[in-house]
Amino acid sequence: MDDMTENSAHIAAMERRWIMADTDLHRRTFLKGIIAGLAALPLVPRVDAALAAWLDGLATDLAASTASGNYWQRLRQEFLTPARLLHFNTGSLGATPRAVIDAVADYMRELERDPVGQAWGPMLQLTEAVRHEAAALIGADPEELAIVRNTTEAMNTIASGVDLSPGDEILTTDHEHAGGMICWQYLAERTQARIVQLEMPVPATSADELVARVAEHLNERTRICSFSHVDTLTGVRLPLARIAELTRPRGILLACDGAQAPGMLQVDVHALQVDTYASSSHKWMLAPKGSGLLYVRRAVQDRVRPPLLRSGFGSYSGSSGTRNVPHILGHGLAVDMHRLLTPQKIEHRCLALRDGLAQRLQELPGARILSPTAVELRSALLAVTFEGKAAGDIYRALRERDIVAKALPATMVVTDALQSRNYNAVRFSTHIYNSEAELDRLTEALAQLTR
Ligand SMILES: Cc1ncc(COP(=O)(O)O)c(C=O)c1O
Repeated sequence: MDDMTENSAHIAAMERRWIMADTDLHRRTFLKGIIAGLAALPLVPRVDAALAAWLDGLATDLAASTASGNYWQRLRQEFLTPARLLHFNTGSLGATPRAVIDAVADYMRELERDPVGQAWGPMLQLTEAVRHEAAALIGADPEELAIVRNTTEAMNTIASGVDLSPGDEILTTDHEHAGGMICWQYLAERTQARIVQLEMPVPATSADELVARVAEHLNERTRICSFSHVDTLTGVRLPLARIAELTRPRGILLACDGAQAPGMLQVDVHALQVDTYASSSHKWMLAPKGSGLLYVRRAVQDRVRPPLLRSGFGSYSGSSGTRNVPHILGHGLAVDMHRLLTPQKIEHRCLALRDGLAQRLQELPGARILSPTAVELRSALLAVTFEGKAAGDIYRALRERDIVAKALPATMVVTDALQSRNYNAVRFSTHIYNSEAELDRLTEALAQLTR
């Protein structure tokens, strides 16, 4: 058999096996699956034993730390970022726990002991469990979810999978990230469709205001609405379910760029009623870099060409080719840690730290917060301007003090309209590895820099 034939035969066998394994996998969590699977499968025993010990140990330690009030300090030890480095830019990239990184390296080593046997064998089979796990975490069905590399890839997949006619309209906002925007610009160019960008209020004050603004821009030519779940500039959490009430009856595809939400906020794509949802697990989900998810609602799958053409949503299929199996397993572990801590607790902590920072900065002369204060709209991204100061200078001066934030807007699609609004803001992200003591150090540094 030549390589191609062997590959196709192998893929067909894998697909058959997954269909058989599907029901079983659906019931198991990823890590439990690994541990339970040990008895049945000669899988990767050294890695699994280490992971099982890690997760058990972490759960026990965290339970003890809850009693002593040291829960978050204990958790901070899981990360490789040194204590002196204050990482307030999860919105760009999260910090992945040490155990996840070690597991990816271990899985890679194990895979190389029997490359074909593992990469196309039991280890590959586990990647399907990751997909099921990730689907459960964001409220999707497994047949609606593909494991991809990032939000940009997922958004491009959607934009290249839909058809438009000249004059059709794609409605977005002026706060979209290039990763969720360039794909629509390209589609509009190819099809002579039109992009309409509604202006986001700064600061946004209520969900009613945002829904009304969307409603004003819809017309009989609108075919697609593409909005960020959490706006990358000012951190507004969009009332997607209410927007879907406007788009779904009109047959408008509601495509969502969710780069900034899963891992920070509890996400349920069915409840949000979006048609497609793209996310980057290497941000708030703390997965290895190059991990993302793409959800396509079952009912619109006939309108959006499948991402992987054949057996579209599998981690690996006839049309997705060879994947980075150890990396996908690392993605699954990050999801698993998330489930261990619980999405509710994580969201609560991220938002509490964000509120703590907002409170501190409100007292800083010259600081003005651009992010919304309304509970229904706020997220763990806080954008702040500093009177008389250039955001880039603040960003660099913080970096010299080992504090990582983000100057805006660096990587956005800067339209003329947005440029004229010139936010000149610094964005801070607060995640579970940040602390109140870090907020104090950041505030003190900003006070020095803006004095
Ligand atoms: C809203 C939004 N969309 C897309 C992206 C691009 O993410 P990725 O590079 O992981 O594709 C980002 C990154 O910051 C973002 O904030």
